[in-house]
Amino acid sequence: MDNNKITIALAADHAGFPLKEAIAAHLAERGIDYIDCGTDSSESCDYPDYAVSGCSKVLDGSADLTILCCGTGIGMSMAANKMRGIRAACCSDVFSAKYTRLHNNANVLCLGARVVGTGLACELVDVFIDSDFEGGKHLRRINMISELEG
Ligand code: RB5
Repeated sequence: MDNNKITIALAADHAGFPLKEAIAAHLAERGIDYIDCGTDSSESCDYPDYAVSGCSKVLDGSADLTILCCGTGIGMSMAANKMRGIRAACCSDVFSAKYTRLHNNANVLCLGARVVGTGLACELVDVFIDSDFEGGKHLRRINMISELEG
């Protein structure tokens, strides 16, 4: 994506909160705009609420991509993938973060704050943002996924 023009939505639950803050600082350092959808502290909260607020930004067009953080990244990805139009990928390796953009046109990256360190998480964010969907035969498969949404 053209990094000078993109906006990233960020959201996290209490477990993902410190990682969200680190990612926000990383994006600011890169000059990338972001929308912080909460949470704002380490006080216990429910990750589905924040999956919805983060993903809503992509669905209403105010963000290009969303990054969700919770303890494992898994709960966030489960909740996000219930939303029509969302293709969320929980990644903890660089190859997956790259290819879920290239082949799956993922619009949401989910990260586990208790799984990956801040350094790796920021690298995953970078490769996710900097990779573009390849289209072609992959578009047909994305459309098949959309059909499963009913
Ligand atoms: C919260 O303790 C934890 O369950 C949550 O952050 C996440 O890991 C769920 O998938």
